[in-house]
Amino acid sequence: MASDAELTEYELRKAGIDFILRRVETRDDFLEELDKQPPDLILADYSLPAFDGLSALALIQGRRLEVPFILVSGAMGEEVAVDSLKQGATDYVLKQNLARLGASVERALREFEERRQRRQAEERLRESEERFRTLFETAGSFISVASPEGLILEFNREAERITGWRREEVLGRGFLGVAVPEAYQEEIKADMQKVLAGQATRAYEMPLKLRDGGERAFLWNVNRLLGKGGEVLGVMAVGQDITKRKEAEVNLRESEQKLRLLASQILTAQENERKRISRELHDELGQSLTILKLNLRATSRQLQEPLEVKEELGNLSLYLDEVIDKVRRLSRALSPAILEDLGLVPALQYLVNEFSKYYDINHHFALPNLDHLFDKESQIIIFRIFQEALTNIAKHAQATEVRLVIMESEGMALFEVEDNGQGFAVSEILGSPSMERGLGLAALDERAKMLGGSLRIWSRQGLGTRITCTVPVDQKRS
Ligand SMILES: Nc1ncnc2c1ncn2[C@@H]1O[C@H](COP(=O)(O)OP(=O)(O)O)[C@@H](O)[C@H]1O
Ligand SMILES: [Mg+2]
Repeated sequence: MASDAELTEYELRKAGIDFILRRVETRDDFLEELDKQPPDLILADYSLPAFDGLSALALIQGRRLEVPFILVSGAMGEEVAVDSLKQGATDYVLKQNLARLGASVERALREFEERRQRRQAEERLRESEERFRTLFETAGSFISVASPEGLILEFNREAERITGWRREEVLGRGFLGVAVPEAYQEEIKADMQKVLAGQATRAYEMPLKLRDGGERAFLWNVNRLLGKGGEVLGVMAVGQDITKRKEAEVNLRESEQKLRLLASQILTAQENERKRISRELHDELGQSLTILKLNLRATSRQLQEPLEVKEELGNLSLYLDEVIDKVRRLSRALSPAILEDLGLVPALQYLVNEFSKYYDINHHFALPNLDHLFDKESQIIIFRIFQEALTNIAKHAQATEVRLVIMESEGMALFEVEDNGQGFAVSEILGSPSMERGLGLAALDERAKMLGGSLRIWSRQGLGTRITCTVPVDQKRS
């Protein structure tokens, strides 16, 4: 008659299971085998002459070995069987029913493998949760999670640091009450509902309320958290402190305003100074030169001889005329009295005439009279814009043609000066530190702003330059 062990082996082979069998009959052999190579599955007889199944089970558990364990027994009551399962056996098979063994082993191995994989997945999940928690706690951002009802579930260290609240104090309290200033309550409440409903959010700015009642400027990203089954767990708010950035922005704006004011004051002071020098040139120097000329004429008339001296006096008088003319021109360039007397268009015409006298440039001219739209101060500013643009053309452009346009349409006045010269790289020139370049273009821009308008410079290497200044005229209409 075949032994139990042989029958067991026979059943397993019959079930098509591929295995190596190690058979032990004593406690020592059992332990030795466990040490040598832990088995994938243990089949144990309930009672052996020198050892028994439940003791073997206890040994395995003592060693924390994870092995499926099936008890095979001839004489085992239902109670003992259940008991063995309670103690941790995977299954039991009665000897009378050994045909079940194959199925039992297969199931035990399968379940064991499944359990192993599940445990591994759980382990990974735990690790990733740990990683997430570390991230959550050490992130440099305020992070808080609230339930769908708005109660705080999480509050990270940065949130504690910024608000002055301790985590234990705010857990379970309403996020709105803890972190949102009064003025934003309704808005944020509505936003939370939208987020919970799945609407994507953009980053938005809202002050964070602090424990001491203070506030800090914050930039927020709010998202909803979903569970495995797609159920809504709550919302996560991540906030960045942008107080410093805000302050810097305000400071920058203020200092820009100050600079602008300073620039316009400088330009105004320059204009006044020019007027003064111009008057001085005209009234003092111009008058003196005229008197000198008259005296020279009178002297020359009285003098008959010597002829060379008389001739020389004649030359001097002509030369003096030239000097007087130069002084007058200088005086006019400095302060366009003609503008004061006759208005912008004649002043510009004069400017262009002067310009084309000295530079061989053809100009196309289209100047409607817009004087009624601008007060005298604005007219001077416009005059200076054209003056600088034309001077630049003379100095830099090597152009053969210049086009001037003045136009009014749709509440805007447009002033344009265009040349066909060599052009220049606008962004390079404007981008370079102002110490290294002239101030002409920068002053142009300032002047346009003083008029409440804007300036555009278009230029291409070899294709010329176009400067366009647009000014709204409605508020200037008198
Ligand atoms: N119409 C133009 N054609 C070619 N280059 C120009 C013209 N206007 C300005 N530029 C270039 O831009 C530079 C800056 O001009 P600007 O600010 O008026 O200073 P500045 O005239 O004192 O050099 C000039 O040096 C010149 O290189
Ligand atoms: Mg210049």
